[in-house]
Amino acid sequence: MNQDERMYIIENQKVTIEREINGDKILDIGGGGEGVIGLCYGKNVVAIDPRKDELEEAPDGPLKIVMDARELSFLENSFDAVTSFFTLMYISKKEHEKVFNEIYNVLKKDGEFVLWDTIIPKYDGDGKDIFVIQLEIITPAKLLKTGYGVSRKDTEQDIEYFVKLGQKIGFNVIKREKQDQIFKIVFKK
Ligand SMILES: C[S@@+](CC[C@H](N)C(=O)[O-])C[C@H]1O[C@@H](n2cnc3c(N)ncnc32)[C@H](O)[C@@H]1O
Repeated sequence: MNQDERMYIIENQKVTIEREINGDKILDIGGGGEGVIGLCYGKNVVAIDPRKDELEEAPDGPLKIVMDARELSFLENSFDAVTSFFTLMYISKKEHEKVFNEIYNVLKKDGEFVLWDTIIPKYDGDGKDIFVIQLEIITPAKLLKTGYGVSRKDTEQDIEYFVKLGQKIGFNVIKREKQDQIFKIVFKK
């Protein structure tokens, strides 16, 4: 099978980012690339990403730090809010609990963790092992069109998976929204 035949493509997904996050200090997990949260919240954002090249590519505004979400080097209770915009799909499932714990620790009490991500169906061995989601991102600043791709092996996830994980860590789930194949969950510490 060539690369194109291996792709399991979810087309035409739309996500709108409104100025909904309160607080002066927002930590964006995996904030390189298009740097969507940084684009919307500018200097209020600290964007971390283990890939320097991804941070360099992201728009100016946030403080950008090369750092891995599995080991956040901030003191406890440092941030008013934490965001993850289609980043957890890029992190191995066996690391998710660790990442959630790190996020919980750096969030202030009553702070919110806002997670945008996608449903990835279980791989059934049909050869279509590369998951691709095509997104239109509507922000107050501009309209972005992009695609995110990961392996489908051991990456299946849905809204319930993340809700349960957040609750296990100690978060309250205060909002969950699903639109077609993508979702947003708001957790509160
Ligand atoms: C495709 S981007 C998601 C979109 C991005 N949040 C944006 O606003 O454009 C996924 C990002 O997650 C980052 N990433 C992967 N593993 C990570 C980890 N362990 N900790 C933090 N970020 C990670 C990748 O380097 C990449 O920049």
